[in-house]
Amino acid sequence: MRKVKTLGLLGTGVIGGGWAARALHFGVDVIAADVKPEMEEWIRGAVANAEPALARLTSAPLPPKGKLSFTTDLQAMARQADFIQENIPEQLPLKQRMLGEVSRHAAADVIIASSTSGLTPTDLQRDMVAPERFLVAHPFNPVYLLPLVELVGGDKTVQGTIDAAAQFFTFIGMHPLHVRREVPGHLTDRLQEALWREILHLVNDGVATTGELDESIIYGPGLRWAAMGTNLIYHLAGGESGMRHMLAQFGPCLKWPWTKLEAPELTETLIDRMVEGTQAQAAGRSIRELERLRDDYLVAIQQVLRQYNIGAGATLRALEERLFKDAAAGSAPQPAERGRPLRLLDVVVRTEWVDYNRHLSDFRYGQVFGDALDVLFRSVGIDEDYRAAGRAYYTVENHIKHLGEAKAGEPLYVTAQVLAVDDKRLHLFQRLHRGRDDKLIATAEQMYLHVDTKIAKAAPADPKIRAKLESIRSDHSGLPQPSEAGRPVGHEKH
Ligand SMILES: NC(=O)c1ccc[n+]([C@@H]2O[C@H](COP(=O)([O-])OP(=O)(O)OC[C@H]3O[C@@H](n4cnc5c(N)ncnc54)[C@H](O)[C@@H]3O)[C@@H](O)[C@H]2O)c1
Repeated sequence: MRKVKTLGLLGTGVIGGGWAARALHFGVDVIAADVKPEMEEWIRGAVANAEPALARLTSAPLPPKGKLSFTTDLQAMARQADFIQENIPEQLPLKQRMLGEVSRHAAADVIIASSTSGLTPTDLQRDMVAPERFLVAHPFNPVYLLPLVELVGGDKTVQGTIDAAAQFFTFIGMHPLHVRREVPGHLTDRLQEALWREILHLVNDGVATTGELDESIIYGPGLRWAAMGTNLIYHLAGGESGMRHMLAQFGPCLKWPWTKLEAPELTETLIDRMVEGTQAQAAGRSIRELERLRDDYLVAIQQVLRQYNIGAGATLRALEERLFKDAAAGSAPQPAERGRPLRLLDVVVRTEWVDYNRHLSDFRYGQVFGDALDVLFRSVGIDEDYRAAGRAYYTVENHIKHLGEAKAGEPLYVTAQVLAVDDKRLHLFQRLHRGRDDKLIATAEQMYLHVDTKIAKAAPADPKIRAKLESIRSDHSGLPQPSEAGRPVGHEKH
C-alpha cells in the first residue's frame, strides 16, 4: 500500500469528524468531503472540540499536525487521497452508489473503507471498481479517543487490503480487530445490541429506570470490562478451575432463560420512558458538557491501563514507543558543527503544560529534559531492546536551574553537552532554549548510572554504547565547562 499522507473522508458528520481529529493529531493530512457545504464549519469545530482531550492522551513527541481541507467535490477528494474512509448515513443503496463513484476516481492502490455499523462488506463492494481494495473499518464514538476499529473483508477483499489497513490504523494509534467472518453488525454492535435489547425490555416492563440500569453497569461490570472482557472475567469467576466450573455452575441458568432475544416494540410509552430517563440522568448538562466529561475520563482510564500494559493501555504504550522512535529517528542528534552541543529536541509548549501563571509548569521542565535525554539514548542504541535485555541508565542526580519562562504555544529546543563518561556513569548538561529568541530558560545537570536491572545493581554499559557516548564526549572536549555545572542549589555565580 502507498504511504498514507492524506486521508480522504466521505461524509463529515459525527464519525467523519472523529476520524479527522484522530488523523490530524497523529500527523496525517485530511481532505474532508461532504455534500453539504455547511459541514466545513462543523468539522472544523469537531476537530477543535476533540483537541483538548487528545492533547492530554500522551506526552510522547508528536509529528507536526496534519492539515485539514474541505470540499464538496467528492471526486476531487477521491483523486487526492491515499486512503479513503466513508462515513455517510447507514443506507445500503446510498453507500453502494457513493462507494462505486468514489472507486472510479481513486487510484487502484488506494484503500477504501466504510465506517458502517452493521452492513456487510460483500454488499457494500458490489458496484465498486477494484473491490479487492475495499473493507469495512468500523470505529467507535469518539473515534479520536477509542482505539478499537473492526476490520471486515467481503468476498472480493484481498488479505493485503486488511493487512495494509491494519497498518495504517495502528499508525494513528488504533487497535485493529480483524473480524474473520462477515456477519451483520460485526462483533461489537451485536454484543452492544444484546445488552440494549435487554435494557429496553426491563424499562418497558417497568422493572428499572434507565439510570438504575446504567448504575448496574458502571459500579460493577463496566469497571471490569475496561481491561478484561466477559470471557476472561467469567474464567476468573469460576475460581481455581476457571471457565469449566463457571459453565457447570451458571450454565443451567441459560436454559431458564433470564434474557429475551426479540427486542420489545418501540411504543410511544417506551420511547418516552427512555427519553425521560436519560434526561433525568443528564441532570441539565448539555450534550457538549457530557462529551467533555466522557472524553476526560476516557483519557484518564487509558493512562491508568497503560501502567498495566493491558487493553487500550497497551495500545497507547505501543503507540508511544513508536512516537519516541520516530522522534529519535527524525531528530537524530546531529552536532550542527563538530564541537557544538547536540540539538536533541524541538517541542512546542502545549496548553496543558502551563500552570496558573500561564507559564510552563515546574514538572514539565523535567519532562522536556527527559524526552530530550530519550532522544540521546535512542541515538546511541539505548532502546526497548536494550532495556528488555536488562540494561538501563538510572538517574542518580538532577539539578534543574530555572532562568526564564515559556508560554503555551512557544517553541522550545534542548541541547546537550556530555561532560563525562566512564564505564558506569554518564554526566550530562542540558540547556533548554526558547525558540523565538534563543533565550536560555533552564539548564539541567544530570548524573546517570548504568545498571543491570535484573539484579538492580550498577554494572558497566555495553562497550558499543559506551564507545558512542565517548565519541560525543571527545567531540565536546573543547567546549567550556558550563558555569552552572557543579553548582549547589542557591549558589550564586562569581
Ligand atoms: N454515530 C456513531 O456512533 C457511529 C459509530 C460507528 C459507526 N457509525 C457509522 O458511521 C456512518 C456515519 O454515521 P454518523 O453518525 O457520522 O452520521 P451523520 O449523520 O452524523 O453524518 C453523515 C454525513 O454524511 C453526509 N452525507 C450524506 N450523504 C452524502 C453523500 N452522498 N456524499 C457525501 N456526504 C454525504 C451528511 O451530510 C452528513 O454530514 C454510518 O454508517 C454509521 O453507521 C456511526
